[in-house]
Amino acid sequence: MIRFFEAEDKIEITKLAADFTGEGFDGEEFGLLFDEIIDGSPDECGIAVLHAGEYLGYCLAHVTREEFIIHQLYIKPAFQKLKVAPQVFDFIEEHFPEHKRQALVPKRNEIALGVFSKRGYDIIIL
Ligand SMILES: CC(C)(COP(=O)(O)OP(=O)(O)OC[C@H]1O[C@@H](n2cnc3c(N)ncnc32)[C@H](O)[C@@H]1OP(=O)(O)O)[C@@H](O)C(=O)NCCC(=O)NCCS
Repeated sequence: MIRFFEAEDKIEITKLAADFTGEGFDGEEFGLLFDEIIDGSPDECGIAVLHAGEYLGYCLAHVTREEFIIHQLYIKPAFQKLKVAPQVFDFIEEHFPEHKRQALVPKRNEIALGVFSKRGYDIIIL
């Protein structure tokens, strides 16, 4: 199941975000961002990926009037290479059909470059 964040997702999504970020993860800062999204911030979008009650991944994006800019997309290692990310892209296209799509990608991430460019995202390398 792919859906927008709900308040009950906070603990599990925060764990995934800590895995994605690694050293230097700021749980407090992430918690504030998560709360902003749940409170209906129009600028940030959070998408959760679940299957059989397990959280498989998430996506965070900055949303402007014209652009949908992914800044975090993470699928748990055990579920990578199973075409989960394309389902997230389908969800985004369904909900933001008119937005220009961009992705912020950390350096030296060939997998991410391939995944995003295949789906027509303009890539900004950080
Ligand atoms: C990038 C990422 C989101 C892709 O998600 P996914 O659901 O695994 O994507 P797919 O199953 O469609 O795989 C896409 C391609 O990447 C390859 N791939 C995905 N994960 C891989 C891995 N860990 N090692 C090697 N190849 C991998 C797949 O083989 C596939 O290649 P193909 O299109 O030639 O078949 C996921 O690998 C991930 O979460 N990575 C860590 C976080 C990250 O780098 N995020 C992106 C920057 S924000």
